[in-house]
Amino acid sequence: MIKNKQYHVAVPATTANIGSGFDVLGLSLALYNEAVFTVEEGLSFSDLTITAEGEGTDEMAYGPDNIVCQAMKRTAETIGKPLPGGHLHLINRIPFARGMGSSSAAIVAGVGLANLYFGEPLSKKEMLSIAADMEGHPDNAAPAVLGGFVISMMDEQGVRGETIPVSSEWQAVVAVPDFELLTKEARAVLPDSYSRKDAVHNIGAVSFLLAAFFQKKPEYLRIGLQDRIHVLYRLTLIPGGREVVEQAEKAGAYGATISGSGSTMIAFTDRIHAEQVGIAMQQGFASAGISSRIMVLDFDRLGVHRLKA
Ligand code: HSE
Repeated sequence: MIKNKQYHVAVPATTANIGSGFDVLGLSLALYNEAVFTVEEGLSFSDLTITAEGEGTDEMAYGPDNIVCQAMKRTAETIGKPLPGGHLHLINRIPFARGMGSSSAAIVAGVGLANLYFGEPLSKKEMLSIAADMEGHPDNAAPAVLGGFVISMMDEQGVRGETIPVSSEWQAVVAVPDFELLTKEARAVLPDSYSRKDAVHNIGAVSFLLAAFFQKKPEYLRIGLQDRIHVLYRLTLIPGGREVVEQAEKAGAYGATISGSGSTMIAFTDRIHAEQVGIAMQQGFASAGISSRIMVLDFDRLGVHRLKA
């Protein structure tokens, strides 16, 4: 029996903003969603069947509205060729609607699968352009495509992304609470404009944040995570969020903040303190009656990549 051809990709979780880098900075984490496309030549892409396991399976679409499927379609249109039908299987490990880039990962998986099917005609920059355009902001899509700590920007000329090296001695500890927070809701609480004082504050903070990562100087992280664009406003939507930051820092974290638009909180730490920082973060949420799961994660360096089918 001839086995149908399969294409298999992995896409990392991402944490956007990193405190003061609102809509610009993002970092990929070594926690991966996978997507497998089994081709049935002769069938039409509109007949694609979809199955899934893991996170968020009861909240996602299984028809043409599925984000992975839409991103495959969009990528095929960009390349200018039709995709065949078949079956799509999704393995979801990234918590859903928690500020860890699950929607970007779904988009990037679709872009990656279609690109793979057509023999990889698109560069990573072109893949990023499709993904960022679909998502509306590039700070999750850029590290999901490129991997690592990524500075990205979208303007009239398109999207730019640049990876900077990160220390392999640092780890991220995430506390994922048992409630979801949609990015749309978390953006709705932000003001339309800011004072010059707050803007200058953020320019200073983000400069120190970059110095912390560039020069591997963890002592700059706390100032780098001090943000006046989104964190203060969003903490009102995350019960226990403030306590999580306090407890994480007391337990030895370099610094802590909201992951993306929340509800997950993230701390950066050395390997020695990671476990106790996780326990402290969980206690921070518990003080507000919120239960949470802890994950200690290395940074990813690969971005979207092919797995052996
Ligand atoms: N920069 C976006 C926001 C990321 O904070 O709204 C969403 O994950």
